[in-house]
Amino acid sequence: MAGGRALLAFAVLIAASAQHLQREASFTISLRAADNITVTIKLKPGVLPVCRIHVKNGPRFELKIRPGENVTLIFTCNTPEKYFMMEIQKNIDCVSGPCPFGDVHLYPPGLPRLNRTFIWDVKASTKAGLELKFSAPLRQIHPGEICPDLVSYNINSCIDTATVNIGTFCRNGSVSRVKLLGGVILSLHLPWNLTLTTSGFNIANRSSIKRLCIIESTLKGESSIMLMSPNYPLGFPEDELMTWQFVVPSNMRASVFFHDYSLSNCERKEERVEYYIPGSVSNPEVFKLSDSQPANIAGSFNLSLQGCDQDAQNPGILRLLFQVVVQHPQIDENVTHLVDLSKERNMTVTIHFEGWPRRTPLVSEPMCLICKDPRSCDRVLTLASGATYKISFLCKDLSRLRITAEKGISCVGSLRWCESKIHSLSVPKTITQLPVQLHKFIWKLIAPELINIEITSPSLKLRQHLPEQSCNTSYSYSIVSATPETEMNVGIFCPGGAIEKIQLRNNITISLKTFGKGFVNESNHQDLKMSFVPHIKDECTFTVSPDSKAKTYLQTPNSLYGLPPYVSISWYITVPSQQVARLGFSTDRMGIACETGRAYVNIKEQMPGAEEIVRREDELLPQPRNMHHNFWVNVSNCKPVDPMQLTLKFWVTFVEKQIDLAVILGVLAGAGVLAAIGLTVCCVKKKKKNQNPMVGVYNANVNTQMPGKQRLFQKDRRTNESHVYAVIDDAMVYGHLLKESNGSVTPEVDVYQPFDGPMGSLPPSPPPFSFRKDIKRSPNTEEPPLLAETDRDTYTFAHQKSGELEDSGDGNEKNNGDTSMSLLENKEEDSLEE
Ligand SMILES: *[C@@H]1O[C@H](CO)[C@@H](O)[C@H](O)[C@H]1NC(C)=O
Ligand SMILES: *[C@@H]1O[C@H](CO)[C@@H](O)[C@H](O)[C@H]1NC(C)=O
Ligand SMILES: *[C@@H]1O[C@H](CO)[C@@H](O)[C@H](O)[C@H]1NC(C)=O
Ligand SMILES: *[C@@H]1O[C@H](CO)[C@@H](O)[C@H](O)[C@H]1NC(C)=O
Ligand SMILES: *[C@@H]1O[C@H](CO)[C@@H](O)[C@H](O)[C@H]1NC(C)=O
Ligand SMILES: *[C@@H]1O[C@H](CO)[C@@H](O)[C@H](O)[C@H]1NC(C)=O
Ligand SMILES: *[C@@H]1O[C@H](CO)[C@@H](O)[C@H](O)[C@H]1NC(C)=O
Ligand SMILES: *[C@@H]1O[C@H](CO)[C@@H](O)[C@H](O)[C@H]1NC(C)=O
Ligand SMILES: *[C@@H]1O[C@H](CO)[C@@H](O)[C@H](O)[C@H]1NC(C)=O
Ligand SMILES: *[C@@H]1O[C@H](CO)[C@@H](O)[C@H](O)[C@H]1NC(C)=O
Ligand SMILES: *[C@@H]1O[C@H](CO)[C@@H](O)[C@H](O)[C@H]1NC(C)=O
Ligand SMILES: *[C@@H]1O[C@H](CO)[C@@H](O)[C@H](O)[C@H]1NC(C)=O
Repeated sequence: MAGGRALLAFAVLIAASAQHLQREASFTISLRAADNITVTIKLKPGVLPVCRIHVKNGPRFELKIRPGENVTLIFTCNTPEKYFMMEIQKNIDCVSGPCPFGDVHLYPPGLPRLNRTFIWDVKASTKAGLELKFSAPLRQIHPGEICPDLVSYNINSCIDTATVNIGTFCRNGSVSRVKLLGGVILSLHLPWNLTLTTSGFNIANRSSIKRLCIIESTLKGESSIMLMSPNYPLGFPEDELMTWQFVVPSNMRASVFFHDYSLSNCERKEERVEYYIPGSVSNPEVFKLSDSQPANIAGSFNLSLQGCDQDAQNPGILRLLFQVVVQHPQIDENVTHLVDLSKERNMTVTIHFEGWPRRTPLVSEPMCLICKDPRSCDRVLTLASGATYKISFLCKDLSRLRITAEKGISCVGSLRWCESKIHSLSVPKTITQLPVQLHKFIWKLIAPELINIEITSPSLKLRQHLPEQSCNTSYSYSIVSATPETEMNVGIFCPGGAIEKIQLRNNITISLKTFGKGFVNESNHQDLKMSFVPHIKDECTFTVSPDSKAKTYLQTPNSLYGLPPYVSISWYITVPSQQVARLGFSTDRMGIACETGRAYVNIKEQMPGAEEIVRREDELLPQPRNMHHNFWVNVSNCKPVDPMQLTLKFWVTFVEKQIDLAVILGVLAGAGVLAAIGLTVCCVKKKKKNQNPMVGVYNANVNTQMPGKQRLFQKDRRTNESHVYAVIDDAMVYGHLLKESNGSVTPEVDVYQPFDGPMGSLPPSPPPFSFRKDIKRSPNTEEPPLLAETDRDTYTFAHQKSGELEDSGDGNEKNNGDTSMSLLENKEEDSLEE
């Protein structure tokens, strides 16, 4: 045994030194005249000529050995493969002599180890067909793409003097045969360190194929292949015809997808594809390249590409890159789903793969097809309203599919006409009952200038998705308000909150997004409606009726980028009679400094003579305070100093009812009727009495305009039929006594003087700015910044493991661990899939 091992070691040594010797050893290349082979060794272009070839008559950088020659050569370096490459060209003439059909050999043997290209140049009559048959099938690649093993075949067809590149191929594919007409130049590229014993193909004589070429692919199991038209990405020859044949087992299904094509400018005839499909009664089936191509074909079929007579001046390019997918028949292939969109208007429903349209699925991914009829299937299917569809799915895993729908609602015509309709913003049942998850339902609400949009959720009411009150429903609405110049992300909302109504001044996009499967059930009671309303004053007005048991948080829109400059937002908060609301801000200050204009927070109870609390951006925000009547909160922005952004959050809760008692008692005490009274009540009242009276702040006849600013709204509040601002709750006659219990409040009198006027139900008056385009009319206001991305708020949705949203209650305290998932993460996940 030991001796054997020693022998083996010796043999390895010998082999190694032999290899080393071979490097410096000489090579003798002898070419028989009959083989008609020429060998050329030349320097790789661009390489430094540090290595040379030594032959009998001296050193050189290039060597050509012709048929019948014997040459002995030595390289002057150890690694000639770094500098030299080799071409072995064999001319085969089938026109003047007999054709050497059969297996093609890699001849001559014993060549130096260099990158090498074998070229077979076959001259043949155009009357006969030549067939190249590959023992191991090939895979077509894009020109310039490199095969993993660096072995590639290139096939060119030569008719007369014209050469057409049929394609470049790697090993390990499905292309088993290529039939050509006339001459062919086939080249095989091999890397220096790979020794192949056979070319892998043979040549056979065939009868004429009457077209440029036939490429045969044999697909055995589930597979997906890409193929290209000859010369791709350049043009397919003018007025040519070619065929791809697909050999598919009859128990498998094939589908064709065109990934890239272009058409030339045809003078006569039309560019088209024709299919021979087993079982079809209308063979050949003719399609335009722009058509959806046949799918779910049972068994072998063929596909022909027909060019046209091109316009000589401007021929254009006919080219085609397509995919053929072979799958097992799907269990549900015969199950049809009815999608009745006949009563819907201006709506499109798109069923698509996950990640569409940003992501293109990998060729290797299992495919999900959506079929309009048994053979018209595609990866993406768009259905338009006004018709009924019977669709089916060819897909192993329907959870890979999604639905995105869009509906446009516009007001064309008079406000009176538009106003008369209330549109329900709900996902039709015909969509929710499909076995595919709804990804998004988008409503595009479009109003002409001076007509605005109102969104209501009368029974469910909306909750603003904030860290303190994250959404736990299976769906949410993202509301984006857009002018032609800019976008404002109003926020993310879900059912089950306090917001009854949102009025918005601009065109609105509402996107319903679903989370998990719960939507199927929850979609049964959707409750979002919209209508067109007369022009409103603020950019956005919320009507909020807070739940007396919960704390309601509200936040200014566009929190990620801050409220746009000069924009004014109002909240109208209802306080049921007999109850007292408490209002507080989440921060002490607005947190901005203004570059132009001033920012204000105004708070005003809705009752005659109510004081208005006004805070400028350079002042402290009010302390938490009790509100006895319905009240307005208004936030109006200036143009903040960059990079400051205005985002304000406030909350409303209800305090115990005994406060009411305190007020009444206080009133009574003030009237001096009662002598003996609770000490605490007395104290409260005394404090109030010591305060400056605030009623005098108001000057009923001064306009809302800031000095120097042009008035933008021509219509007066009294004449614009606004029905936003509800009536006064006149029951609360004692309200004026319940003033700020915190003595620190001193109202600003000199800044601007809000208009109160006879209409007691007005919201506090913001400076008359807006981020709409009509601010351009004002010469001294700035162009608003472009707010590019909107769907980006980093709010956190808490998800249950089941995929449903979970109630995380107060977002500050509960941590959902690995089950929580933010919208941003969601977004990133989406983009990872791209
Ligand atoms: C060798 O190739 C040349 C060029 O194609 C051709 O003219 C010649 O007839 C060929 N000779 C043989 C023996 O095939
Ligand atoms: C080339 O060399 C081989 C042996 O190395 C010899 O058999 C053959 O006759 C030679 N041919 C020519 C044309 O010199
Ligand atoms: C040999 O082929 C390889 C792979 O195609 C390439 O990277 C290398 O540059 C080639 N060498 C020469 C000398 O052509
Ligand atoms: C072809 O595929 C087989 C098996 O899939 C693999 O072993 C072989 O390395 C592949 N060859 C090339 C050239 O990629
Ligand atoms: C050939 O050499 C290249 C490096 O030049 C290497 O990556 C490759 O694996 C080698 N191939 C074989 C078959 O040895
Ligand atoms: C090739 O086939 C055609 C008809 O199939 C025949 O006429 C021709 O003689 C064949 N040529 C050769 C070289 O076998
Ligand atoms: C295409 O298929 C049909 C039916 O199988 C067959 O008759 C026809 O000859 C085929 N055409 C080509 C070019 O392969
Ligand atoms: C679907 O229907 C076709 C035609 O009726 C039938 O050949 C096929 O087997 C059916 N597929 C399945 C999966 O049942
Ligand atoms: C249909 O919706 C589009 C937007 O999706 C909108 O531009 C168009 O005005 C709408 N048409 C009608 C009649 O509502
Ligand atoms: C809303 O869109 C319509 C149609 O595109 C446009 O005429 C109108 O000016 C837009 N409204 C606003 C406020 O941008
Ligand atoms: C939908 O509701 C039904 C009955 O109320 C229940 O059985 C089912 O599990 C629910 N589905 C989901 C996904 O929550
Ligand atoms: C969501 O949270 C609210 C309370 O915040 C609760 O009443 C409701 O049942 C929760 N809904 C779901 C689906 O968990």
